Amino acid sequence: MKSVRVSAPATVSNVCCGFDVLGFAVDAPADEVIVSVADGEGVEITNISGDQGRLPREATRNTASAAVLSLLAAQRLTVKVELELIKNLPLGSGMGSSGASAAAALVGVNQLLNLNLSRHELIPHAMYAENMACGASHADNVAPALLGGFVAIRSYNPLDVISIPIGLTLYCTLVHPALEVRTADARQALNPVVPLKDMVAQNGNMAGLIVGLTQGDADLISRSLHDVVAEPVRAKFLPGLFEMKTIARNAGALGAGISGSGPTIFALSRDEKTAWRTGQLLQQHFSTHHLPSECYVSVINPQGTKVL
Ligand code: HSE
Repeated sequence: MKSVRVSAPATVSNVCCGFDVLGFAVDAPADEVIVSVADGEGVEITNISGDQGRLPREATRNTASAAVLSLLAAQRLTVKVELELIKNLPLGSGMGSSGASAAAALVGVNQLLNLNLSRHELIPHAMYAENMACGASHADNVAPALLGGFVAIRSYNPLDVISIPIGLTLYCTLVHPALEVRTADARQALNPVVPLKDMVAQNGNMAGLIVGLTQGDADLISRSLHDVVAEPVRAKFLPGLFEMKTIARNAGALGAGISGSGPTIFALSRDEKTAWRTGQLLQQHFSTHHLPSECYVSVINPQGTKVL
């Protein structure tokens, strides 16, 4: 039996104005998967640590094994795959936990079986697993987890994922309160129809954010980190979302918002000190609501999922 240990990073999706379109990878936290292949048949989850026994062990229901099943079926391969998951990303946190395990498992299988598939070619299999987990094939977590950096999903059909070159160093603060929001619930809450004026505002901000990132224009990034579509509806899942967005900006961050479907809050800053200070103030905010929280600060991870 051949084995490989793979690490996949947490990701921030939506990034305020890019619902289901924008996402980026961070350095920490990260999930790990030990992938083993042997002669035989079937995909098996041999162990999961760090999930308090909450994730499905059944191969068709766990995102890591479901992604591998999708890949093996597409490649018409019969092989035995064993997956051991080491979960460091909290579940239901909005940091791409389900996608990270799937990304790590896919990269491991791709390497061990010498499939030579590109990271882009692995994305649909990770999306299949996301669909199983939350009922939507969104790629804004799995694409940055696999590719690293900042990505945009220009189109879902056909799938067109593009990497956005970043012209400045950014520090991302992630504050995760002891709350859980199911992505399926957070998606269910959204209004399926977006008024024209909101579409104009959202598109303007997304254009501004992408130009700000590529040109390294921090002021433009800051002016663009707004969401008029998802956050106004999802604010009800969090205590004081708009207060937190103001706290982050007052601390010197360029902006802040819900990471993915939440409840984690992300903020972007130009320097590490501001990023930690922002995190401290956001943690204080959660404390006043009797919610313990964890804080992570890291740069944008350029590499994505990596074989250790
Ligand atoms: N774009 C997805 C959503 C991300 O906001 O529902 C889920 O983490």
